[in-house]
Amino acid sequence: MTTKKPLLVVQNVKTYYPIKTGFMNLKTDYVKAVDGVSFDIFEGETVGLVGESGCGKSTLGRTIIGLEPITDGHIYFDGQQMDYRTDRVSLSKQIQIVFQDPYSSLNPRQTIGDVLAEPLRVHRIVAARDIPQEVERLLQLVGLPTTAKSRYPHEFSGGQRQRVGIARALALRPRLLICDEPVSALDVSIQAQIMNLFKQLQQELGLTYLFIAHGLGAVKYISDRIAVMYAGKIVEMGTTEDIFLRPQHAYTKTLLRAYPNPDPTKRSIIQRTQKGALE
Ligand SMILES: Nc1ncnc2c1ncn2[C@@H]1O[C@H](COP(=O)(O)OP(=O)(O)OP(=O)(O)O)[C@@H](O)[C@H]1O
Ligand SMILES: [Mg+2]
Repeated sequence: MTTKKPLLVVQNVKTYYPIKTGFMNLKTDYVKAVDGVSFDIFEGETVGLVGESGCGKSTLGRTIIGLEPITDGHIYFDGQQMDYRTDRVSLSKQIQIVFQDPYSSLNPRQTIGDVLAEPLRVHRIVAARDIPQEVERLLQLVGLPTTAKSRYPHEFSGGQRQRVGIARALALRPRLLICDEPVSALDVSIQAQIMNLFKQLQQELGLTYLFIAHGLGAVKYISDRIAVMYAGKIVEMGTTEDIFLRPQHAYTKTLLRAYPNPDPTKRSIIQRTQKGALE
């Protein structure tokens, strides 16, 4: 259930990357990766953010978490305007990010237990003597055996590694999780399991999600609302039902046509849903 209190408010946010161009690289141009984006996310809600490669989805996510400097605009979290220079510590506890490939961000020489213990220790989430118990709790939360703590990242499959990535993000007990294509690198059969885990964690922990993906199919079942991004701007945002049944923008309609339906029985369901009720 969502309450009508926005947890995150993004107001006219711009993130530009300076690039040197022209003769002798003397001219500075800008890649307008995020170019005037406004939207909000209510507590307990899942907002899907979709759009083609390079449209600025990751930059927007990284800007919200403070990994990219904001060029213009304002971001409010739980009613407070974010100042990323001073709020980094408190912010990093409240907003966490899950990346597409957790392997590249896991130190191969650290055991899973150490990976999870580190943020607990640095941010003093629990007393030092309670860390081993908290590590086990996190592993159980994401469906991994507690014996995983003494093993290394390479000993795990892609799906299991993503579970570790999720456990690490949850270690700081965040309220908002930015999920940047967290299942797109996984085997199709594993994708559904991880998506179910996200849903289950949301119910158990009351999490709020910004869920990034290329296509509409990937966010359909998890999103309450969907924002469609194109060339640095959100061109349309609406409930999942509205986006699927009553798309307004031409680009949203293009994305809907690209909605993959290899199964002919499902295809007919989609055709029906576009005419009538959402499945
Ligand atoms: N550090 C950077 N310096 C310069 N330009 C960048 C930087 N990071 C991203 N960009 C540019 O900003 C634009 C948006 O990139 P971004 O990674 O946010 O897109 P995306 O929607 O996440 O794409 P994908 O779906 O492929 O992950 C692209 O044109 C990209 O080349
Ligand atoms: Mg991206």
